[in-house]
Amino acid sequence: TKSGSNIRADILEKVNAFYIQELYKNKFAYDYLKQRGINDSTIEKFALGYAPDSMKQFQFFKNANLNINELKALGVLSENGEYPRLIERITFPIFSASGKIIAMGGRTITNHPAKYINFTNTKIFNKSKTFYGLNFAREHILRKKEAIIVEGYMDVIMLHQAGYNTAIATLGTALTPDHLPQLQKLGAKILLSYDSDSAGINAALKASKLLFRSFFEGGVILFPEGLDPADVVKSGNDLNEYFKNQIPFLEFIIEYTIKKYDIKNPLQKKQALDELKEYIFTLPEILQESFVNKAAQYLQISPKLLLIRRSNQPQATG
Ligand code: CTP
Ligand code: MN
Ligand code: MN
Ligand code: MN
Ligand code: MN
Repeated sequence: TKSGSNIRADILEKVNAFYIQELYKNKFAYDYLKQRGINDSTIEKFALGYAPDSMKQFQFFKNANLNINELKALGVLSENGEYPRLIERITFPIFSASGKIIAMGGRTITNHPAKYINFTNTKIFNKSKTFYGLNFAREHILRKKEAIIVEGYMDVIMLHQAGYNTAIATLGTALTPDHLPQLQKLGAKILLSYDSDSAGINAALKASKLLFRSFFEGGVILFPEGLDPADVVKSGNDLNEYFKNQIPFLEFIIEYTIKKYDIKNPLQKKQALDELKEYIFTLPEILQESFVNKAAQYLQISPKLLLIRRSNQPQATG
């Protein structure tokens, strides 16, 4: 065999088929998904399942002749092989872009303090490069030249169910430079549609900075305070109302950086300026000008003030 590739990913398909069976055997698990607003065809499409207690899982692994070391290598079992990584959780298989299961995530339905658990990285799964839902969204993204990036599993699933079939999610991590090559290949405009809470807005700010600097077109979608895309779909509100209002990255970065400060206060205005400048100096020169002009407008200052490296340095005049 080729070095390092003798890992049998079809084992994950078998484990997932078992989890799917268990979903229908455990009515409370199936009912949980129904109560979240997920319909039967969506459950089937995303191959959602339920990981039962540890003993039931080990019985299955034994009956199906699955090898403990392989289960460990694929992430199904913990490092020491003593317990399944997902226990008494709804299971979300994570697919490669070509539709093969490469890992899984699980959501507690028993109020376990860790709401979500994902497999750790394996030979076939690198979570900082993977987008959940891309296997379903890819063709739509290529056709519409637009991708919606959300925070989590439920957001992807509910958006697809509501007809927003270009939704994808990073896996419990922020958007990082590692994600960008995949996005660049898609050649699409990016809409960030994170949770409208402070964590989500901060994450959107960081992601916007990264995307703008990397020449992506797109912007940010906001929902009513505290809601995420899955909540909005469930509420029955028209999502188009929100998707119509896209705040372009450039404006979002400026507006939401300034929002952190009370710019009527001169000291805080200086701090806002410093934070913007810190970003401006990471921008490729060609993007600096439009950014500086827009920021100067917002702050009602001269654009020159945003191009001086240290604001406590005496200004060159003349
Ligand atoms: N996540 C994670 N680990 C956690 C919490 C979250 O990996 N402990 C990831 C998951 O991919 C999750 C996403 O971050 O889908 C969004 O998290 P969060 O907004 O907290 O999920 P909720 O919207 O609160 O989850 P739910 O709708 O299922 O209640
Ligand atoms: Mn949450
Ligand atoms: Mn969140
Ligand atoms: Mn959320
Ligand atoms: Mn949610």
